[in-house]
Amino acid sequence: MEAWEKPTLISVPSHRNELGSLGVIEKQNVFPFEIQRIYYLFDVPGGATRGSHAHKALNQLIIPISGSFDVELDNGFSKEKFSLNSASTALTVPPGYWRTLENFSSGAAALVLASNTYDEEDYIRNYEEFVKWAKNK
Ligand code: TYD
Repeated sequence: MEAWEKPTLISVPSHRNELGSLGVIEKQNVFPFEIQRIYYLFDVPGGATRGSHAHKALNQLIIPISGSFDVELDNGFSKEKFSLNSASTALTVPPGYWRTLENFSSGAAALVLASNTYDEEDYIRNYEEFVKWAKNK
């Protein structure tokens, strides 16, 4: 199965001028998978935590198109935290990471590109179950 090797912050090619900026994501540019789904998080109340689950096979790209928030990624062995605050910098999320999104600024929005359609079977929503799954992989 094709997958990103590890979580990384990547640059989204952007065209900037005095009238503002325009970011572009095309096939084979930034997201090397077929985009099967796009969803976005918005209107997140201050103090809320989103995520708290892992995916077994899904590759995702998280783009902070507005405002800022933090993403913690946990592979069952170690955790890494990424602060997303620029719409020209996106975070790759390979399969097999427990993700927690928090510290949303007012008006923040997260655009997510996903390599597959929504499938509840691909989720692990229990942390202990996730750690067992990660250690047996
Ligand atoms: P969930 O993935 O649990 O959100 P988060 O991780 O951001 O807290 O999804 C929240 C709800 O939305 C849940 O009822 C499932 C539904 N949902 C869809 O129907 N389709 C989707 O593509 C996604 C991501 C969620």
